[in-house]
Amino acid sequence: MGRKYSKTEIVREIKHPEIEHIFVFPSKEEAARATAERIAEIINQKPNSSIVFATGETMIPVYSYLATSVDQDGVDFSKTTGFHLDEYFPCAPSEEHSFVKYLRKWVWGPLGITRFYEINGLAQNPRAEAARYNRLLKDHPVELAILGIGPWSPETNTGGHIGFNERGTPFTAETHLAKLDKATISRDRDERGQNTPDMAITLGIANILSAKNIFLVAYGRNKGKSLRESLLKHIHPLRPASALRLQGRKVSIFIDREAASQLSL
Ligand code: F6R
Repeated sequence: MGRKYSKTEIVREIKHPEIEHIFVFPSKEEAARATAERIAEIINQKPNSSIVFATGETMIPVYSYLATSVDQDGVDFSKTTGFHLDEYFPCAPSEEHSFVKYLRKWVWGPLGITRFYEINGLAQNPRAEAARYNRLLKDHPVELAILGIGPWSPETNTGGHIGFNERGTPFTAETHLAKLDKATISRDRDERGQNTPDMAITLGIANILSAKNIFLVAYGRNKGKSLRESLLKHIHPLRPASALRLQGRKVSIFIDREAASQLSL
């Protein structure tokens, strides 16, 4: 059943008034593979693309499938330019939770990206570092921004960040130094046992919305709740991912059946 999305089968597509596509797949693996297939299509069509790469657990299978397409199907990232979505602050590339470390391990090397710009998580002046990164982004209009979504915290009834744009971040914000939300800090430290700081340098929502294509990937019921808040309630800075609906025609969301179970539109 369902139609084919490249090689991967979609269970169904959820209709939403603003978001162009919400694709539902039978499993996390298939959602990840379909995302990788679609990213590969964009790179095949536009080899010189600038791409913003989210980090995090959600993206590991996506980048692993992409690395396989590079090795086996000749997908060629050699002309692309890579950007972060965010980095903890302060944070050295040697630290376990560093997103620079992650990108070097899962993205730059395996995908063969040789032109990339890293956020310096040890910059003496993090606001100047954010401004430097913002200028680089302006010089390289982004073809594709790949996003995850933050967890939902039932205790605080908040969550669902994109990048590290936590609740309350104005939609007009560009790259900036951000204070992490309790829900994010608790996920990182209590659930994942990481020694993360309270701050991060993140692309702002305005940077994300200026990308030509925006892909968001999510698996599981908890992420489904974050999506539910973002897609079904009013568009508001308390729900950062709701901003995506302002540019919904550019947005494709790839989710598994469990996340979709939270989204009865
Ligand atoms: C990471 C990022 C975050 C993550 C989100 C989900 O670069 O910007 O918004 O996408 O916190 O993280 P995971 O995938 O680890 O659950």
